[in-house]
Amino acid sequence: MKPSVLSSVCFFVLATHGFGFCQSSVQAQHTAQFRFDFSDIADDQFENHQSVPGFELNLDAIRLVQFNLDEDAVWMTERQKLHAKAMGMKYLDITDAPSNFGRLFEKQHFSYPPPNSSLVKPIFPLLSIEEMKTNLKYFSSFRTRYYNSESGRASSEWLLQKIRNYTAELATPEQKAIISVEPFHHGWKQASVIIRIAPKGSTSDPITVLGAHCDSINKKNPYLPAPGADDDGSGTVTILEAYRALLKSKYTPTTPLEFHFYSAEEGGGLGSQEIVAAYEAEGKEIKGMQQYDMTAWVASGSKEVVNIITTGVDTELTEFLTLLVGRYLDIPWVKEQQAKGTGSDHLLWTRAGYQACHAFEGLAVNANNENIHTRQDRIDASHEFSFSHMRQFAKLAVAFAVELSS
Ligand SMILES: *[C@@H]1O[C@H](CO)[C@@H](O)[C@H](O)[C@H]1NC(C)=O
Ligand SMILES: *[C@@H]1O[C@H](CO)[C@@H](O)[C@H](O)[C@H]1NC(C)=O
Repeated sequence: MKPSVLSSVCFFVLATHGFGFCQSSVQAQHTAQFRFDFSDIADDQFENHQSVPGFELNLDAIRLVQFNLDEDAVWMTERQKLHAKAMGMKYLDITDAPSNFGRLFEKQHFSYPPPNSSLVKPIFPLLSIEEMKTNLKYFSSFRTRYYNSESGRASSEWLLQKIRNYTAELATPEQKAIISVEPFHHGWKQASVIIRIAPKGSTSDPITVLGAHCDSINKKNPYLPAPGADDDGSGTVTILEAYRALLKSKYTPTTPLEFHFYSAEEGGGLGSQEIVAAYEAEGKEIKGMQQYDMTAWVASGSKEVVNIITTGVDTELTEFLTLLVGRYLDIPWVKEQQAKGTGSDHLLWTRAGYQACHAFEGLAVNANNENIHTRQDRIDASHEFSFSHMRQFAKLAVAFAVELSS
């Protein structure tokens, strides 16, 4: 069904689900209503006014969009999706999700003993702020990492090459024998990237996953520059640095450990959705997944904290995350619900019945809200952009990885 625009100020979408979509969260034949005000947004705002080459974007494509895990999905155009993004909303685009997404098998449930590994702390001195700066400077120099653009494609190719170079230069022969670094291609230009560390004989063991998203977007218009330094260059470089430190420390896990760099999170979790669906189709179990989406901002005058998100996550894994922060970090945690219509790739794992969690750069009110999704999301936007804060998250990533996979 086509969404209908009822007035120039507000629009309503009446959605009827009779297609077997998203029935894990929505009753079939349910009717939903969706409304927002876009009076500040011109109808042609998202056109390619400057004829920037290298993009594929169909503004009239009809998409099925979910604004909250416990709410019905609604049909709208890509243009209307972008309206929502421009207003600061996040969402999942579940148009292409398999009809049985999340329901292929009953997922195993894991509990998490308190962290107590002696392997974690010796790795911390290997985490380098200089390395993170160099990488993020480069990664945020692509004009945009929009997932269906040529520069978006180039950015994840650079990331893939960077990871392969680290692996070639730093991994021991024992590590090399169990590591693979591969792109995960989608039906758009930018690929996701997956690092797999799979000890021999561990193929049916549950996997520990650290995730971040490698795309970026300018909410005013996807054709405009979007350096995406904080969102989510910071998360990408944070877990990349954790991986580099694990290589340097000669760490080898006993159960599988993976690092995922998801494409098209800004399109509504499109990349992670395809990866979750593929993992589910292969019957894979996940021991725990943690998403790193924005790790750099410490607002002036605010106390430096790790914000542990309590919505769209697994309660036990989230409790474990607070223990990790308490044991290993130099800054305290706070907990906060995420506002309606926000979230990141961990929501796809949660939606599929896996255990996932999310930690964020600060309280929502102190986050980098002014700059993200604009051309100002740069590492030099302000002194509030903190590589030392990112390093705290890199420590958390090392701790999460080692505690769950050793
Ligand atoms: C950590 O706890 C487990 C049980 O939860 C125990 O078997 C192990 O010996 C402990 N390790 C250390 C280093 O304390
Ligand atoms: C990877 O290494 C090759 C060979 O040394 C080099 O040419 C290339 O620039 C490196 N790429 C990245 C992203 O570090």
